[in-house]
Amino acid sequence: MDYHVRDLSLASQGLLRMEWAEREMPVLRRIRERFSREEPLKGVVVGACLHVTTETANLMVALKEGGAQVSLCASNPLSTQDDVAAALVREYGIPVFAIKGEDKDTYYSHIASVLATRPRVTLDDGADLISTLHFLAQGREGELSTSLKEVFGSWSQRGREALVKEVIGSTEETTTGVIRLKSLAAQGKLLFPVIAVNDADTKHLFDNRYGTGQSTIDGILRATNRLLAGSVFVVCGYGWCGRGVAMRARGMGARVIVTEVDPIRALEAVMDGFMVMPLVEAARLGDFFVTVTGDISVIREEHFAVMKDGAIVANSGHFNVEVDLEALEGMSTSKRRLRPFVDEYVLKDGRRIVVLGEGRLVNLVAAEGHPSAVMDMSFADQALAVEYLVREGGKLKPQVYRLPQELDMEVARIKLKSMGIEIDSLTPEQREYLSSWEMGT
Ligand code: NAI
Repeated sequence: MDYHVRDLSLASQGLLRMEWAEREMPVLRRIRERFSREEPLKGVVVGACLHVTTETANLMVALKEGGAQVSLCASNPLSTQDDVAAALVREYGIPVFAIKGEDKDTYYSHIASVLATRPRVTLDDGADLISTLHFLAQGREGELSTSLKEVFGSWSQRGREALVKEVIGSTEETTTGVIRLKSLAAQGKLLFPVIAVNDADTKHLFDNRYGTGQSTIDGILRATNRLLAGSVFVVCGYGWCGRGVAMRARGMGARVIVTEVDPIRALEAVMDGFMVMPLVEAARLGDFFVTVTGDISVIREEHFAVMKDGAIVANSGHFNVEVDLEALEGMSTSKRRLRPFVDEYVLKDGRRIVVLGEGRLVNLVAAEGHPSAVMDMSFADQALAVEYLVREGGKLKPQVYRLPQELDMEVARIKLKSMGIEIDSLTPEQREYLSSWEMGT
């Protein structure tokens, strides 16, 4: 079996951590047990590019038990848990290509290794696998990395097209990936159907909000061990993730400022009780800054220029482009690593700015990503989306689809049940009332 992980001897530790996560994933467990009985993915080659965490590992095992031939690479060079990668290889015979801290060329060589398995269904977190397939189809893989060029450079156009044509469909886990794919679809260039798992209610309402909320604070605390109570905490972006981060920072006693570009989201933040102002004003006040916008150069030179000495800057949005580190480098006279994932930049006037996790997803770099209980729903959605694509993908057009609503509802229903919570159901009278227009006052 071909694989590339840091150290197979870490497998036992990874296995224990996978088991610990699995206990909090009852919805995925139920799906795994059904998959094991019914094998709905029998013989289907599945390629995944996801954060290599304990929860992802449990998803991979569920897909394998469903009959799929799975392989996995990382969706971020710094989020891989090396012990989990080792456990998947040694204990489950699942090929994994991921090493925490891998450079860009290795990252793309790992994507190439997954694509070399000729997947019929792909899973993405950030759309790197799908976009690589599209670059390949256009003969442009060299623009992404030299390692891709080395692997695919000699492939004929027909060979590349065959690779892409074999894909029945793909799933996408996160907001940024969905934005990229919708842009591809809008240009009429998307080559196969994609299910935007992120857009399922049981995904973004919980994973993005409660998952990112808790794990971003967790990442900041593990990296810095600083006290949040009484601090000024600036959250850039008040989307699903930003709401979660702001809510949890407030819960820890921080005074939270929100910055936004969307007037409705800004208004919502105001009425949720947060201070809202332009970032250039907040920059003077903040002790901590977190970007969760999915946007580029959100914190940039004009903001670094007025930050307090010792300000701590982190990103929890998908790509490492939200904090303009190039500008910060240019303004600095020196840089040193103070603790793991804590880099201090000294500016010309002597002020120090601290950047966590090299501006990459702080919750996955400095902590372990979202708690398993929330990934349970996201990955239940993923597993059901893969099953749906295998069953129905042939009938879908090359567009971005939502997960069918009945599957979304089913995940919520099982989650509630696993929590021991029951809810009411509509009476026949209520059902009729809610579906009629005749009854007024
Ligand atoms: P969203 O679309 O709900 O929210 C983004 C918000 O940022 C919007 O309200 C937008 O108006 C605002 N924004 C855009 N540019 C801005 C700027 N320059 N200044 C201030 N606000 C700005 O997206 P969501 O779901 O909250 O995701 C945000 C990012 O987090 C994405 O990159 C997503 O992929 C990522 N993500 C990260 C996770 C993690 O584990 N850390 C988990 C889930 C999503």
